[in-house]
Amino acid sequence: MVEFDKLELPKEGTRITIENGELLVPHDPIIPFIEGDGIGREVINIARHILDEGVKKAYGGTHQIVWLETYAGGKAKELYGKLLPDDTITAIAHFFVGLKGPVRTPVSGGYRSVNVQLRQSLDLYANIRPIFHIEGVPTPIVHPETVDLVIFRENTEDLYGGLEWPAKSEPAKQIGNFLFQQLKVETRIDASLGLKVISEYGTKRIMRKAIQYALIHDRKRITLVHKGNIMKFTEGAFREWGYEVAKEEFGDITLTEKELEEKYNGTLPAGKIVVNDRITDAMFQEILLRPKNYDILVAPNLTGDYMSDAAAALIGGLGVAPGVNMGDHIAVFEAIHGTAPDIAGKNIANPSSAILSGILMLEYLGWQKAASTVFQAVRKTIQNGKVTADLARLLKGITSVSTTEFADRVIANMN
Ligand code: NAI
Repeated sequence: MVEFDKLELPKEGTRITIENGELLVPHDPIIPFIEGDGIGREVINIARHILDEGVKKAYGGTHQIVWLETYAGGKAKELYGKLLPDDTITAIAHFFVGLKGPVRTPVSGGYRSVNVQLRQSLDLYANIRPIFHIEGVPTPIVHPETVDLVIFRENTEDLYGGLEWPAKSEPAKQIGNFLFQQLKVETRIDASLGLKVISEYGTKRIMRKAIQYALIHDRKRITLVHKGNIMKFTEGAFREWGYEVAKEEFGDITLTEKELEEKYNGTLPAGKIVVNDRITDAMFQEILLRPKNYDILVAPNLTGDYMSDAAAALIGGLGVAPGVNMGDHIAVFEAIHGTAPDIAGKNIANPSSAILSGILMLEYLGWQKAASTVFQAVRKTIQNGKVTADLARLLKGITSVSTTEFADRVIANMN
């Protein structure tokens, strides 16, 4: 039996379980949510309301999400005296699926990012962002409809581990001495140092997840993005290990770009997935020039971070791109923007990213009909020119609607 410090289990609802590696979702799953800070409080509650309406519409009352509020950020600090209480981690681990708003990370005061803590505590090693365009959303490129990417960013390793030491500190001096004495490598005496960590285990599990995703979602091309030409033993190994998983664990359904050309004359046979790789800098150019040649991208943490925001810009920016942080089974769906303190509390934030993240959550639950109901309604609302200020100001002759009015329109457009 799960035990909480302050949370109370809902009186209704059933826990999602895992059987033989599969999610077993009841008709009334208990799903923890975190409002977060700033506009999180607005967009998450609106997203929940819209998801509830979509579920009702799709299943006529037989299905229902039973929400359990958990806390991170400002509200958590008030209630528990800390930004990320154990209750929140325990609840998400116990119920497997969560919906999360953005959380402010105070810049000073030595706070660790709540988001990083959550990802590490729950081992959410895959950050997954589908990047597709919704007609009517203003974008900086001419053919946004050709963009249909899913970015898998490794979430736990690389230069993000916090393994860095300031210039002239004792650890930096000791590491500098070690490098010089043992490896004959010279670093400048006034250099800060950081450690880039990329493991076989970490790489293989993100690649495995990407291939499994491709199988479920009928995706045909997986591209490993890396800078292995320069960083041979970290990024280069990322590439090698990625190919290894494809060959050793999915050899019957994957083939390389070379095999595709040599054996199949460039035409992908039914049921196969082609695995290739691109150097990071070239890939940044490719997503702008030839996005339609790409499908799933798998990248180490730092590159994945840059690339997912750059790709989101292609289809209209952070306000309309959804995301999820996932482990083997635990999945936390979240809007990818921050707390937007400049517009918080003004009822003008765009709730689309939070709603679209919720749609991904419905898909993960296997509630495809509800996911489609909500998605069609969001799409229709945007196509009808009913958009929030962030998008309206980029469109000619469109007056913006408020966050709540946008939500009302979405609900009215459900059929
Ligand atoms: P931000 O995403 O909050 O804001 C950047 C700009 O985009 C602002 O002008 C904002 O008004 C606008 N914007 C963002 N979301 C919007 C929406 N839904 N509708 C309309 N406009 C929107 O990024 P910033 O300013 O760098 O970060 C603010 C705070 O958020 C920081 O404390 C940061 O740590 C936190 N943050 C949290 C994240 C998370 O919890 N996953 C992710 C990114 C930032």
